[in-house]
Amino acid sequence: MSEVHTRPVPADFAADAHIRAEDYQKMYRQSVEDPDAFWAQQAKDFLQWEKPFTQVIEEDLKRGHAAWFADGQLNVTVNCIDRHLPTRAGQTALIWEGDDPAESEAITYGQLHENVCRLANLLKTRGVRKGDRVCIYMPMIPEAAYAMLACARIGAVHSVVFGGFSPDSLKDRILDSDCRLVITADEGVRGGRKVPLKANVDQALASCPDVHTAIVVKRTGANIDWDSKRDIWYAESVAEMKPECAPEPMSAEDPLFILYTSGSTGKPKGVQHTTAGYLLMAAMTFKYAFDYKEGDVFWCTADVGWITGHSYIVYGPLCAGAISLMFEGVPTYPDASRCWQVVDKHKVNIFYTAPTAIRALMGAGDEYVTRTDRSSLKLLGTVGEPINPEAWEWYFKVVGEERCPIVDTWWQTETGAHLITPLPGATPLKPGSATFPFFGVQPALLDEKGREIEGEGEGALVMKSSWPSMIRSVYGDHQRMIDTYFSTFPGYYFTGDGARRDADGYYWITGRIDDVLNVSGHRLGTAEIESAIVLHEDTAEAAVVGYPHDIKGQGIYAYVTLKHGHEPSEELRQALIDLCVKEIGPIAKPDIIQWAPGLPKTRSGKIMRRILRKIACNELDTLGDTSTLADPSVVEELIEHRANR
Ligand code: PRX
Repeated sequence: MSEVHTRPVPADFAADAHIRAEDYQKMYRQSVEDPDAFWAQQAKDFLQWEKPFTQVIEEDLKRGHAAWFADGQLNVTVNCIDRHLPTRAGQTALIWEGDDPAESEAITYGQLHENVCRLANLLKTRGVRKGDRVCIYMPMIPEAAYAMLACARIGAVHSVVFGGFSPDSLKDRILDSDCRLVITADEGVRGGRKVPLKANVDQALASCPDVHTAIVVKRTGANIDWDSKRDIWYAESVAEMKPECAPEPMSAEDPLFILYTSGSTGKPKGVQHTTAGYLLMAAMTFKYAFDYKEGDVFWCTADVGWITGHSYIVYGPLCAGAISLMFEGVPTYPDASRCWQVVDKHKVNIFYTAPTAIRALMGAGDEYVTRTDRSSLKLLGTVGEPINPEAWEWYFKVVGEERCPIVDTWWQTETGAHLITPLPGATPLKPGSATFPFFGVQPALLDEKGREIEGEGEGALVMKSSWPSMIRSVYGDHQRMIDTYFSTFPGYYFTGDGARRDADGYYWITGRIDDVLNVSGHRLGTAEIESAIVLHEDTAEAAVVGYPHDIKGQGIYAYVTLKHGHEPSEELRQALIDLCVKEIGPIAKPDIIQWAPGLPKTRSGKIMRRILRKIACNELDTLGDTSTLADPSVVEELIEHRANR
């Protein structure tokens, strides 16, 4: 290991942060020694309850079971909107910055209340009831947040599908969770380009006969097809609705949303989160990890189609009464200065993005950053994949001018909120380390035999106890949740990540140790991409692995075996790429396709992915033992024609 340059807590944070070093030690200890008392207090401090809870934690990780504050009742939108109205009706809740730098808008808490209530009433008139699932397939416009909150207002369960997913992916998700209503827009706009959202919805709904309503926001005014029995315009319809809608009282454990995410096997899973536990952790981590103070402008660059957008554009910030910036565009449009121009325009204080964006902006050159002011910035954050120390140092020195601590927040769709993260007033930073567990979070590292590693070491990252925003189920397949997260190491939640703990107790996430890829911070299952490739009639078999990519973190490397009598060609390569885009979306485009006459398999027919990974990463001296393969000669052939040298 090269020497790590530790960054001390800056003096202003050490003095004024919500959580200072001594607070962290004390609160963390209490949170694990007396979790019931700790969490009961937090749940009272952070949330407004319709009916107070008397139970706090009920858990049995062996069964994958957890329930938090189970007999309490509350409504998420009361917490995110109504309770702020007496003091903040006129305060900005959301700042919307359009793809076009000339477009922006501020929405107050009062306006948010009205917009959410109107849409909630519209959903009711279209027959949506508590517990029904609603699909949201939207660009990054305020209506996306209204749609999520309108569902929460009436107890409907939203399933947001990222606007970059293909019609096929959208269809699968609508069918899997049996959504009957879809909220979308005519088109999205990103980086100056139009995204045909309504056309994608039309295509998806051709195979979803139970969807009776599509609510369409007019974003660009493009010509779109219209099914007058099914489609209604958002603006005209909500204008006829009342601006008040009574919040549905929800049990703490009632589902709030489903969000699909990729795993090692099969189709994406609908990760289900609950009302109270999820909201509590989103709000609490928001306040403490970002040290959010009254009036700060917070900008998370994620899309609301990912968990980061759910927790840190919508639920966490709004629950805290914060000002949350929502950005429609991309960091490099019109040019690589855009983020910093937006920071200056809206006086952003806290900026939260992914390492892939940081690396891309770093590659564009310092002058795009240094020609902007950025003096409003006081804290920076990163999420989604391990950040390499070089990108960390650039972010720290060039963007933050060595003034802003960086919170490297480790978490997952399944965890709902940060689990391992620095707290800027308490934690000296080590570039590349997500540092220490959040309150109540008890990580452990396990060796291959499932034994806990003490002190320094590296192993599989697991959690020894539940936390409020832990995944509660996989929609429609509870057993799949137990099998995926709670069976590998009985009694623990298994993250799928590996990690190292150093002598000071800092955690360093080393990346996925299962067959999940992390491409530009987006999670993809190798199995999903393989299934798309083998849909082509010329292909016999495919194996997909990740390899290091300078900007994306990981690139997609596909080994493809053709059926007898078929020859590789440039057209076929393009056809396979197109299939991945069609089946999944542009994020699933393979970077490299290697034609493989055969794949390395054990004698029982199992593909040896370890060897394929090594070849893709060009790590030939650590290939390991190949003698157990059914046909060791295929390895030689793959090495000879490898595409990443
Ligand atoms: O491998 C870890 C990586 O992203 C995975 C979770 O992906 P997803 O559910 O899409 O959620 C992404 C946003 C929370 C994890 O299993 N990951 C996330 N944050 C970090 C990270 N890896 C290293 N450092 C992080 N800060």
